[in-house]
Amino acid sequence: MSSAAELPRPAEDPSRTGVAPAADKAPADTPATVEVGVDGRLRRAGRGTDEADQLDGRPYPGGIPDATVARLPIYLRALYALAERGVSTVSSDELATAAGVNSAKLRKDLSHLGSYGIRGVGYDVEYLVYQVSRALGLNQNWPVVIVGAGNLGRALANYGGFVSRGFRIAAMLDSDQSLVGRELGSVVVRHVSELEEIVASSGIAIGVIAVPAPAAQAVCDRLVAAGVTSILNFAPLVLTVPDGVDVRKVDLSIELQILAFHAQRRTAERFGQTSDPAVAGA
Ligand code: NAI
Repeated sequence: MSSAAELPRPAEDPSRTGVAPAADKAPADTPATVEVGVDGRLRRAGRGTDEADQLDGRPYPGGIPDATVARLPIYLRALYALAERGVSTVSSDELATAAGVNSAKLRKDLSHLGSYGIRGVGYDVEYLVYQVSRALGLNQNWPVVIVGAGNLGRALANYGGFVSRGFRIAAMLDSDQSLVGRELGSVVVRHVSELEEIVASSGIAIGVIAVPAPAAQAVCDRLVAAGVTSILNFAPLVLTVPDGVDVRKVDLSIELQILAFHAQRRTAERFGQTSDPAVAGA
């Protein structure tokens, strides 16, 4: 059985030295996966598609399923919390509890990263942080552009947590001239007319949209045309993007609505009745 301790340390990691193992062709029944290219970028690869075949030197020959990728940031957050408490090894049960998943799923997820832990000892927290970060492409500093320097943009710019998680706010753009030149966090607001030039000169691949909904699609189109391939959208609308561009949408009101549903159900269970007026009155 391989173990976290037996795996190559960062300095010896073949994907860092460029001597990565040859990748096998994905079998036809392989589900759609996200893989990490030699440039550290996450790429979508399908069932033996040309794109998948072109991934030379990838450190994850079997690919990492999308559902696993979605859980990796949750594991990372739990691991950071453990590391901050001075915990150096963690069992799969403990980590699963901290991350809020079942331990069989966690072990399977981590096996995609080549991490199996050591029986009776568990996982080396520091090394697992490295492995998960590497899988997510976080072992480099991603320059990010935020478009929209309003309430939300300002809060994001002032949030120090991005830097320690592998992101650097390279630019903050707004169409309001009165905001241009203002210092927010570590950046100075620049006019949105500079978007294309800034994206190109800073090699920005990730854009954050924090503008009002009516302006969001046009901002998105400009980001994509400028070369941005990953977008975090806060505006309350569904963006249309071409193939090859990934969009993640953040909507706190949806999260609150889901919580409201659970709160309502719990209240109904406690009082042994439905809280749905339509059903209650039926
Ligand atoms: P805000 O009105 O304070 O700021 C919006 C900023 O965008 C302004 O500074 C404005 O000048 C700028 N802007 C407008 N059009 C632009 C363009 N074409 N190019 C560049 N900049 C432009 O609004 P706030 O509160 O910061 O919200 C921003 C967006 O985030 C809104 O769409 C809002 O609905 C959304 N939002 C989403 C949340 C979520 O949970 N998803 C939570 C809070 C806000």
